[in-house]
Amino acid sequence: MVPNRRSGSGIKSTGKKTVGFDFMAVVSMVYCFFCVLPIGVLAAEQSGLEETQKLRFDENGEFKILQVADMHYANGKSTPCLDVLPSQNTSCSDLNTTAFVQRMIVAEKPNLVVFTGDNIFAFDSLDSAKSLDAAFAPAIASNIPWVAVLGNHDQEGTLSREGVMKHIVGMKNTLSKLNPSKVHIIDGFGNYNLVVGGVEGTEFANKSVLNLYFLDSGDYSTSPSIPGYGWIKPSQQFWFQRTSAKLQRAYMHEPVPQKAAAPGLAYFHIPLPEYASFDSSNLTGVKQEGISSASVNSGFFTTLVEAGDVKAVFTGHDHKNDFCGKLTGIQLCYGGGFGYHAYGKAGWPRRARVVVASLEKTEKGTWGDVKSIKTWKRVDDKHLTGIDGQVLWSKSFHGRKN
Ligand SMILES: *[C@@H]1O[C@H](CO)[C@@H](O)[C@H](O)[C@H]1NC(C)=O
Ligand SMILES: *[C@@H]1O[C@H](CO)[C@@H](O)[C@H](O)[C@H]1NC(C)=O
Ligand SMILES: *[C@@H]1O[C@H](CO)[C@@H](O)[C@H](O)[C@H]1NC(C)=O
Ligand SMILES: *[C@@H]1O[C@H](CO)[C@@H](O)[C@H](O)[C@H]1NC(C)=O
Repeated sequence: MVPNRRSGSGIKSTGKKTVGFDFMAVVSMVYCFFCVLPIGVLAAEQSGLEETQKLRFDENGEFKILQVADMHYANGKSTPCLDVLPSQNTSCSDLNTTAFVQRMIVAEKPNLVVFTGDNIFAFDSLDSAKSLDAAFAPAIASNIPWVAVLGNHDQEGTLSREGVMKHIVGMKNTLSKLNPSKVHIIDGFGNYNLVVGGVEGTEFANKSVLNLYFLDSGDYSTSPSIPGYGWIKPSQQFWFQRTSAKLQRAYMHEPVPQKAAAPGLAYFHIPLPEYASFDSSNLTGVKQEGISSASVNSGFFTTLVEAGDVKAVFTGHDHKNDFCGKLTGIQLCYGGGFGYHAYGKAGWPRRARVVVASLEKTEKGTWGDVKSIKTWKRVDDKHLTGIDGQVLWSKSFHGRKN
């Protein structure tokens, strides 16, 4: 969300040319090209794990993801904190955000760190590349793989959205991608997926048992008749559908063909309009401000429900909301505000979300497919207190037990 102190300025014009009918015509031509692709060509892509596969479940049958939402990093030590108690304001800066990332990584030892946008607050940054380098430095130093997607503030400085994403992709230890290589036309920058293999040496070693999707939810509407934030466009939804279908086919195919899709998790910045479906009676966490989604519903939630594999969605953007709520079988979760140069609520500590997927122990005593997905948050106090632990998804609830 736009910080309070800038809310008077309304929506920033991006100055970009709007692409209208010509663009749609090209897109439909591309769609038709895919429509007539022979089945054999598609089957060749279904090899399960890709060669570039780098992530897999640990020997303890777990895969843990740390979500860092809205760092709003600017220039480091000289950048003040927003919305902290007067007693906390002295010597508070971006360096407190850095320290929090470091402490979370040490405390949780995640297998992957996901930064869900507004990684930098580029409007206040003197040099976007330097701000990005500093913002991701603690993740890089940890030697843990990390990825990032774009928010609505990352491009408000010396780099464009494409420039920011290109810079990120070139950084050390990141698995982020500019966009999927086989798709020629897609909106935004930083749409990609990652596969997570089963435990080495088990029959799931060469299958993706957990699928991660990362999308660019845009910044602001470029359509003069539509106010507000950006949204996930048809080209991105089409890529997601194809990718999900491909992964599902591979999972249900040899070796060890499965009866249902492997669970998926989706990460992006701006919450879907469906995040507004909850109140305190049916959410876990807190809702302390409105849902700042786009003013139109581009249908991505419906696309997710139809695809069927994604069990939970994780966004940022609204720093004072940190809840998860379940709608039509999909958990819609916020990370909770993380960065000290981001608006927040004084006295309500900055926080981060952790997700852990756990494998089933098979009858043979080895690790099988994903049994459950759990989450909790930790707040930036002395002990990094854990809160709001909950099960997001469990295989047995879906009657999938063999
Ligand atoms: C906190 O400190 C910054 C300078 O570091 C100052 O700009 C800001 O007004 C202070 N905020 C409060 C609430 O005292
Ligand atoms: C920010 O970091 C400084 C230096 O470690 C520390 O003294 C201060 O308490 C931190 N502020 C907050 C709000 O955590
Ligand atoms: C997985 O792939 C590797 C390398 O191709 C192979 O050596 C191994 O036998 C495969 N494991 C299973 C369970 O299919
Ligand atoms: C949550 O509860 C409210 C009533 O308190 C209801 O209007 C809303 O539909 C519920 N949401 C879901 C997703 O069940």
